[in-house]
Amino acid sequence: MSTTAPLLIHHKHCDELFADAEEACANNDWATGEPAFARLNEQLETHFAGEEEILFPAFEAATGMTSGPTEVMRAEHRQMRDLLGQMRGALAARDGDTFGGAAETLLILMQQHNMKEENILYPMCDNALASSAVAAALAECLKAPVSSA
Ligand SMILES: [Fe+2]
Repeated sequence: MSTTAPLLIHHKHCDELFADAEEACANNDWATGEPAFARLNEQLETHFAGEEEILFPAFEAATGMTSGPTEVMRAEHRQMRDLLGQMRGALAARDGDTFGGAAETLLILMQQHNMKEENILYPMCDNALASSAVAAALAECLKAPVSSA
């Protein structure tokens, strides 16, 4: 298993949670949408934590690259958290249009972000962190969703 394999699996898990929340809220099914959004928000935060607290620091320590791709990814995480905040506010206000607009922006951002990670940063991390303890730490961090995916 590569160092970043748990994150790849978890990206797919988050995509599914996104689709569930988006579909329910698009249908004004707030009773389903509210817990679905809470799960999405929680798992995206777990994912960001796995990267920001485990993967990125390990990569930066191994390569000395602290102002490269990890800095860009952290900035995009902030943008995604901002959009999640807008979605949370729209959900509380039962404002389907605002929710849908923010969700659409988040989806595009997530797709581009995940593609950059999967095609560029994760392979760099796998090279820099081969046979390190990082894979086990990531698997532990993402354990619950990965095992239920
Ligand atoms: Fe990320």
